[in-house]
Amino acid sequence: MEQTYIRDIANHVGEVVTIKGWLYNIRSSGKLAFPQIRDGSGIIQGVVFKPGVDEKLWNDVNTLTQESSLIVKGEVREHPKQPGVFELDVKELEIVHLAEAYPITPKEHGVEFLMDNRHLWLRSQKQHAILSIRAEIIRAVRDFFDSNGFLLMDTPIFTPAACEGTTNLFEVNYFDDTSAYLTQSGQLYNEATAAAFGKVYCFGPTFRAEKSKTRRHLTEFWMVEPEVAYADLDDVMSLAENFITFIVHRVLENRRKELAELERDVTKLELIETPFPRLQYDDAVKMLQEGFAKGEVENNFVWGGDFGAPDETYLSNKFERPVMVHRYPAAVKAFYMKPDPERPDLAMCVDVLAPEGYGEVIGGGQRAEDLQYLLKQIHEHGLPEEAFDWYLDLRKYGTFPHGGFGMGIERCTAWLCGIEHIRETIPFPRMLYRLKP
Ligand code: 4AD
Ligand code: MG
Repeated sequence: MEQTYIRDIANHVGEVVTIKGWLYNIRSSGKLAFPQIRDGSGIIQGVVFKPGVDEKLWNDVNTLTQESSLIVKGEVREHPKQPGVFELDVKELEIVHLAEAYPITPKEHGVEFLMDNRHLWLRSQKQHAILSIRAEIIRAVRDFFDSNGFLLMDTPIFTPAACEGTTNLFEVNYFDDTSAYLTQSGQLYNEATAAAFGKVYCFGPTFRAEKSKTRRHLTEFWMVEPEVAYADLDDVMSLAENFITFIVHRVLENRRKELAELERDVTKLELIETPFPRLQYDDAVKMLQEGFAKGEVENNFVWGGDFGAPDETYLSNKFERPVMVHRYPAAVKAFYMKPDPERPDLAMCVDVLAPEGYGEVIGGGQRAEDLQYLLKQIHEHGLPEEAFDWYLDLRKYGTFPHGGFGMGIERCTAWLCGIEHIRETIPFPRMLYRLKP
């Protein structure tokens, strides 16, 4: 197949190349037409000069509608006044399909309209940049774990019980009279694979029937979860800061163009280096209460609760680097958290809050090792003991200190892209009121 991709165009200056793609936009004036052609890898401006081409080519160019599919042949030229910018002197044009009137025009559209047309909206430059950064983050995630001694363990999506609480489980029918739940997290299974393989990670879709309509919540999102045998809370925090720093460096290294397209202030990302500040929950609460006294926070936070989005936003805005808030009250956290030996009302957990108000991107911690304690927790959380018998086995056959965390890919992508809402960070977002397209 004869085809050159626009991303490689700099290597073809002076050559005649074939580009297969779609018409992004066109400007035409008198004797000149400038079709902008995109092929998924980039956009290039074509130049058609009426006196220089035959009549059919000139007419074809001028019948092109937005998003028509086409194949063009042309000579690659470097822009005379802008080095590094390339143009295509169009010599042949084959219209593959003349597109009907395209619903998304260069004018402003409301977000609901764009979401309804998500399957087409994906073709726009901003979406292209965001989803390219998402792919880069995922590549960095895999490289980080694969090259640091972690083994990939795919955990199941159909599960018999809750991991992160029962209030947001998606229930599905699993033959006859049995119910299954879509996984909220691969963690419990990873605790078993960590006992078998030491350092593991899982990476896949996870599901939460979140009734909240916030800019940070999806009902289906991708989570990467490392789990490490013999890691304590400090080790988990060190892993988290190294991991995030690695990802940020990678994106800065390979996706400058996309960050510029999004007008991302990269100086903020260039500040991300280890170590990250570590803040005990107690001290975070004090900061929130002081903020309230100064009129910077709306609610006077009371010790004992979990942070809401505005609290996280306030806290994360206080730091240039992600802040690691640790040792929350055990009562607001999941059943599996290890209690702090010095203060058993606290959990040995950590949330990593991204700067610039992006809030929690990572949640994790050290796991409870003690069989009796876990049994008590399972009962207190109203969970069915029989569904957890295999999990409790891990505490009967060589129980061991261990810990890990989960990072939501979409939250991380929203932060690195500097965009307001998580819905644009996955090709087809699933939310409370959005199942289509
Ligand atoms: O804090 P969470 O609920 O932690 C767990 O699920 C643990 N079992 C992870 C572990 O220790 N292995 O979720 C972890 C991360 C959050 O910090 C956030 O980035 C993301 O998953 N997340 C969501 N992202 C988008 N939409 C939602 N509804 C999310 N819920 C959690
Ligand atoms: Mg959490």
